[in-house]
Amino acid sequence: MMPIPYSCLCAVLLSLVLGPMPCVAAPAAESPASSVAVLAGGCTNCHGPDGRSSSAIPGLRGQDEARLRARMQDFRAGRAGDATVMTRLMKAYDEAQIAALACWFAMEARP
Ligand code: HEC
Repeated sequence: MMPIPYSCLCAVLLSLVLGPMPCVAAPAAESPASSVAVLAGGCTNCHGPDGRSSSAIPGLRGQDEARLRARMQDFRAGRAGDATVMTRLMKAYDEAQIAALACWFAMEARP
């Protein structure tokens, strides 16, 4: 069992009930090697260390949470016309993981 960043997941769960809410960044002390950090680790090969890209692939860190989530949902559903690899990649992630990843990358502060 790994620790879960509560502020993130709470925002995610509440947003399912109440509609979009601002994602609250967890203080550094609350997010050790959490499960979302492990998930996000797989993205950094392409999206740059910590989601800060210096290549043609868009950076994720600090982007708007709702936009990140919508983009990932579109990839997963095959709705993103500009997508190449992400359509296939996002099929491996469920709704909760997508929400957690969006929240994670939207946080400006380094984990
Ligand atoms: C194999 C390389 C690769 C990996 C791994 C990868 N991505 Fe991507 N990602 C891309 C590319 C390339 C694009 C541009 C859209 C496309 O071509 O599919 C993209 C686009 C995106 C976008 C849209 C960004 C924007 O500004 O519109 C999001 C969000 C995203 N990826 C999230 C993720 C997440 C989260 C992960 C890890 C779970 C991840 N990606 C892993 C290559 C990758």
